Amino acid sequence: MTPDFKSATYTETYRPQLHFSPPQFWMNDPNGLIYHKGKYHLFYQYYPEDIKWGPMHWGHAVSTDLVHWQHKPTALFPDEHGYIFSGSVVLDFGNTSGLGSAENPPMVAIFTYHDAEAKEDGAKNYETQGLAYSLDDGETWEMYVNNPVLPNDGMEDFRDPKVFWDASNNAWVMSIVAGDHLQLWNSSDLKSWKKLSNFGKRRGAHGGVWECPDLFKMKVGDTDEEKWVLLISINPGGPNGGSATQYFVGDFDGQQFTSEQQETQWVDWGTDNYAGVTYFTLPKDYYGDTYENDPGQDRIFIGWMNNWDYGQETPTTPWRGAMTVPRKLSLQKVAGRYMLYNYPVPQLEQLKTEVQETELELAIGDKKEIKFDGLEQSEVRFTTESKDFVVKLKNTKNEEVVLTMNSEQKLFLLDRVVSGKTDFNEKFANQIQQMPVAELPEGPYEVRMLNDRSSIEVFINKGQYTMTAQLFPTEPYDALEFENVSETSIRFDNIVLAQMKTIW
Ligand code: FRU
Repeated sequence: MTPDFKSATYTETYRPQLHFSPPQFWMNDPNGLIYHKGKYHLFYQYYPEDIKWGPMHWGHAVSTDLVHWQHKPTALFPDEHGYIFSGSVVLDFGNTSGLGSAENPPMVAIFTYHDAEAKEDGAKNYETQGLAYSLDDGETWEMYVNNPVLPNDGMEDFRDPKVFWDASNNAWVMSIVAGDHLQLWNSSDLKSWKKLSNFGKRRGAHGGVWECPDLFKMKVGDTDEEKWVLLISINPGGPNGGSATQYFVGDFDGQQFTSEQQETQWVDWGTDNYAGVTYFTLPKDYYGDTYENDPGQDRIFIGWMNNWDYGQETPTTPWRGAMTVPRKLSLQKVAGRYMLYNYPVPQLEQLKTEVQETELELAIGDKKEIKFDGLEQSEVRFTTESKDFVVKLKNTKNEEVVLTMNSEQKLFLLDRVVSGKTDFNEKFANQIQQMPVAELPEGPYEVRMLNDRSSIEVFINKGQYTMTAQLFPTEPYDALEFENVSETSIRFDNIVLAQMKTIW
């Protein structure tokens, strides 16, 4: 059936009110995240003719606060080299590419060309890397005439270049995946690239193809120690089925990424956070104090709030696909192990309105329901020491999302099996989502939920453990139920229920 593409109102059923979504049509990965001259740019995989995946373009939006977004015209269109797959944008501040000038350094997009016809004809080298550039701060884009800049000698799934400036070695470094591993390449001008090294053929999770890498340096907690973090999305093979993003913590010496990490670690254990990458920023001294909203050294991450298992069938129209809220990453050493935390950026606080505060003490086996009409567009937080509780989001149709903390198994569970519409794809609600929480502190610790019309994001202990999931209730959830399933009485302190203003 051809979808009915009425013009977007941002009031449609399931339309996210706290999250970015395109007005109409299909969206997947975030691309080209860059902060430039006071604005955060968000490009994205976009097919502006249907609400299913198709020949990829780059859609575009900008924000000054990472909360409110302004839609921009489509930035990149397929051309004779292929569809425009995922990639990144840098500010070529020294005009190393010569595509701009010293006075007006170009923004340069580095992306994958996907030649669908060549693939169909059985070629293996159907993915190459190309450039586009903008001389007007990202408003309009030109394709580089000598594309592709990085040809392919026969690697399948050679894609998703993410480029950063390596100040220690005065070079551009590209992380890019080739099927089952990461490759690092470098360049002095963004146009000619030299291979440095490989990583990961036998490391981490390999349940599916590696996609959307991102390599960056982070401070460890408040110490002076620095480590490199590598994000790798894989599809399928995620911990709860389908798509998910793993990470490795290690070191990068300008040539090679190495990691001693043994276990597979996930950015987010929920089913709906994929292909996430972080904002490109320049060394602090580049902009000086000229522009506002500068993220400084903060690492800000956005993911696609969907899963390839069922992402093309979710019951939304006239758009399909939303992004996670922007999240600030931090790296902490917990029990001798590096853990990547992700937690909503503080700018989202401005959306809070009508805040109710309460607290609860529940005897063994007790439960308590709190009616909350604005639940479908809200933030809920509480602190607790308990490791045995159940919190439900419910509606009057007996649809519910069940969150369970289980101390015996050291697991947190998210159950959307009877959460509303689930039958659009059998993989959507065929299992309870599980997250091991072995390193969760004794407490008290915070549980924070961001609830939107068609999603929930759960952040435990300030982002130490995160789960993101889409939900399609047939009527909004309007009550929260807290239940004590432990063997002592338990407390939920500082319960804050905040309605949230729409970002649109
Ligand atoms: C990840 C991905 C990328 C690719 C893009 C195509 O979701 O498969 O690897 O570049 O989507 O739209």
